[in-house]
Amino acid sequence: MTTSTMKKSHSQWSSRMGFMLAAAGSAVGLGNIWKFPYMAGEMGGSAFVLTYLIFMFVIGLPILVMEWLIGRRGQKNPIHTMEDVAASEGRSRSWRWVGIIGVLGSFLILSFYSVIGGWATDYIFLAGKGVFLNANGEITGQIFTDFLGNVNHLLTWHTVFMAATAFIVAMGVGAGLERACKVMMPGLGILLLILVAYAAYVSGPAFGESFKFLFTPNWSAINGTAVLAALGHAFFSLSLGMGIMMAYGSYLGKDVNLLSTARTVVILDVLVAMLSGLAIFPLVFANGLQPGSGPGLIFVTLPIAFGNMAGGTILGVLFFIFLTFAALTSSISLLEPTVELLEEKTPLGRKAATIVSSVIIWALGIACLLAFNEWADVKLFNKNIFDLLDYLTSKIMLPVTGLGTILFGGWMMKQTLIKQELNLSPTWFTVWTFLTRFIIPIAVILILVYGFMPEN
Ligand code: PHE
Repeated sequence: MTTSTMKKSHSQWSSRMGFMLAAAGSAVGLGNIWKFPYMAGEMGGSAFVLTYLIFMFVIGLPILVMEWLIGRRGQKNPIHTMEDVAASEGRSRSWRWVGIIGVLGSFLILSFYSVIGGWATDYIFLAGKGVFLNANGEITGQIFTDFLGNVNHLLTWHTVFMAATAFIVAMGVGAGLERACKVMMPGLGILLLILVAYAAYVSGPAFGESFKFLFTPNWSAINGTAVLAALGHAFFSLSLGMGIMMAYGSYLGKDVNLLSTARTVVILDVLVAMLSGLAIFPLVFANGLQPGSGPGLIFVTLPIAFGNMAGGTILGVLFFIFLTFAALTSSISLLEPTVELLEEKTPLGRKAATIVSSVIIWALGIACLLAFNEWADVKLFNKNIFDLLDYLTSKIMLPVTGLGTILFGGWMMKQTLIKQELNLSPTWFTVWTFLTRFIIPIAVILILVYGFMPEN
């Protein structure tokens, strides 16, 4: 190999690596470790899990590629990218609405994401203090209930998490955080593996039971609600439908292979979620806990493991540190679009734009936080504020913008260009076109329609 080709392949590698880290950093987060297990538990297990897996590859992956591809062509923030790419294809500028709804979605999601990020941060200290030592499910459940009841405490940690997110975005030190994550992410993976092994070891038959619960097809449990939830979660967990991946695409070099990079990100994202499910459900079944107990699931189950395994205190502290970092790499990606938009549309500079957006998101976060205690009974459409925001974003806004993206890529863009960008053989190109023009849009529309049928 000559020096020049060596240099070239090296620089390609490092840019692809940096990009992968940012994309995986945004994708892997609380969605995989906190949200996936409790949703699987609420939706009856395998029917949800298998549907989610199928959607990740058949719908999520192509949309991820499409967002990167559009972003790489537009080279701007999501709203202007959509507007410009549409204009260059001779299409209406109204396509910018895909970007606008996306930014709004990221704004709303961050408000509750920060609350849960605060829980993860606080659990670092709870684990460190040894409060889980020898605890069983009843005790960890009680600790979590007391924790949720302490509004000042929750508010403090929500504030700390949001401030940390704002600090990183304002200072533009995201790259430093990503480097830290180079160590933390594999660390999180190893800890999850240890937890799965531990769960398999101590919970005996409950491990097989969880495996069955998560993976043995049980299609009778499937209904419109579960399918819509699985679709929404595929978008949420890949950070799709918010223009975030589109923005990342604008930093992408022409030499990066979109399809293979997307495949790696999807596989990583899925692996973390599956490991997390396999670590949690054996503890749920072995301790007689309820799989459908909701957003507190990991905070009630994993501490049982940390309280009873050798070296559990230190592993617990490490686990929640890694989780907090994984949450931070996602939360900075959630804050960025709003900040960018304010920076462009108002006279505010980057720091001021960050402060203004963060304060508004933080205030909305307080309303979500109160939904877990004092405002638990404040309901709109029969949902508390946290559930309402989650529903509005994951089940409506993300699928709608995802649909917009795929319709735009499938029908509005010149397909020869896409064929070139993706470097597809004629056969694969036919598959790709069929998927993006027909299968995905029709599937998403049907899922939205069935998901909203009154009997669901
Ligand atoms: N994908 C992140 C997670 O799984 C959450 C997220 C959603 C981040 C949307 C950015 C955009 O935790």
